[in-house]
Amino acid sequence: MYIEPQIFTLKDGREAVVRCAEAADGAQVLALMRQAAQETEHLLRLPEEWDGFTDEAEAVFLRARLADENALQLVCEVAGKVVGTASLDRHVFIKTRHRADVGIAILREYWNLGIGRALFGMLFLQAERWGLTQLELEVVDANERGIALYRKLGFEVYGERPDGVILPDGRRMRDYLMVKKMQ
Ligand SMILES: CC(C)(COP(=O)(O)OP(=O)(O)OC[C@H]1O[C@@H](n2cnc3c(N)ncnc32)[C@H](O)[C@@H]1OP(=O)(O)O)[C@@H](O)C(=O)NCCC(=O)NCCS
Repeated sequence: MYIEPQIFTLKDGREAVVRCAEAADGAQVLALMRQAAQETEHLLRLPEEWDGFTDEAEAVFLRARLADENALQLVCEVAGKVVGTASLDRHVFIKTRHRADVGIAILREYWNLGIGRALFGMLFLQAERWGLTQLELEVVDANERGIALYRKLGFEVYGERPDGVILPDGRRMRDYLMVKKMQ
């Protein structure tokens, strides 16, 4: 799915662009996901679970995302560098086409600058265009920044999953299931 790019100003005054990911972003998006997996325990994949991916395969994936009428894959670019990505995946069955799942990852150096809020702004715009009535996401209980942002944006916790995540060292994390009603 294509959506028009938007320019916005970060909290530190720099300019950023939120736009659709393209095949040419493959290497940068893959590098971002690998780095983000190292920087936080709050994403589902461990860094090594990105090992099997190649820049070329990621380019193919992003090209397919752009052509997929039920998916939106965004990147946030600062000074030409891809520093964040967010996704919206609309459910495809007729009975659940009013729902979509959200995903987001931003490099640590760029947290708390307003990028999460800006990426969500574009996701909400597309959700409105699709006529969705609710957006859904899952977040581990330790992710205070994420949960704070999601609550500010209108998401509410509707459920909890015990032991949704078990880290390699044995620590267990609970998942919160969150929903934002659109209409
Ligand atoms: C979670 C994440 C997406 C948030 O994005 P971000 O760009 O840092 O968020 P923003 O700067 O847009 O907004 C953060 C908001 O939460 C607030 N906030 C940050 N930490 C907070 C805390 N500990 N308690 C309360 N509020 C907090 C900020 O003040 C800000 O509020 P504002 O928009 O009203 O000013 C980002 O940190 C990230 O990618 N983390 C790693 C990967 C991840 O956790 N992905 C999500 C998995 S569900």
